[in-house]
Amino acid sequence: MTATKSTNITWHEPLVTQADRDLRNGYKGVVLWFTGLPSSGKSTLAHQTEKKLFDRGCNAYVLDGDNIRHRLNRDLSFTPDDRAENIRRIGEVANLFSDAGIIVITAFISPYRADRAQARALNEPGRFFEVYCKCSLQTCEARDPKGLYRQARKGEITAFTGISAPYEEPENPELVVETDKQSLDECAAKILRFLEARDVIPACS
Ligand code: ADX
Repeated sequence: MTATKSTNITWHEPLVTQADRDLRNGYKGVVLWFTGLPSSGKSTLAHQTEKKLFDRGCNAYVLDGDNIRHRLNRDLSFTPDDRAENIRRIGEVANLFSDAGIIVITAFISPYRADRAQARALNEPGRFFEVYCKCSLQTCEARDPKGLYRQARKGEITAFTGISAPYEEPENPELVVETDKQSLDECAAKILRFLEARDVIPACS
């Protein structure tokens, strides 16, 4: 956890609240926190869900692990401490996005339960939903679109999640999508039904 180094800072309460924005938008700003092994389909499903929400008139936005590591988190590696800092920053950014009225979808491995719990704790109850993109290691490794599992098996990449670094499965995710058993469209539809059931978005008429 990064300590606060700034001194003499004062919190400024806004005049427009998250609830005000929800009311105007007609849906709630929330965090959909995807987690799962590399190549479990997080990013693909995140973008599919974003598109479906957008087409229904809801502003959604994907924060994607690989992309964020190109820019905002370019200073971070894959050590446990750097992964924790990666998730800490993304947890904060996701919280800001949801406060701004966006349905933010994060697609990070986020392998450690404690880091995910910290990201959750930033949000009010009912504003953070952990979505476990469940996929067997065997299937992830067979997919291997970037060839990283192959390199990890050869020892060319160290501390690779699922092979030489841990992945801690969620114990109580709000939703599980089995990306090796259901199609992309079925998984996205399941997430939208879930959001309707939780009154995040209005039900389709
Ligand atoms: S996390 O563990 O800190 O949540 P994050 O989701 O940001 O990881 O980044 C994962 C992506 O980085 C993977 O999709 C993969 O393309 C790439 N990557 C490179 N090295 C590793 C590694 N050692 N372990 C896992 N992913 C890696």
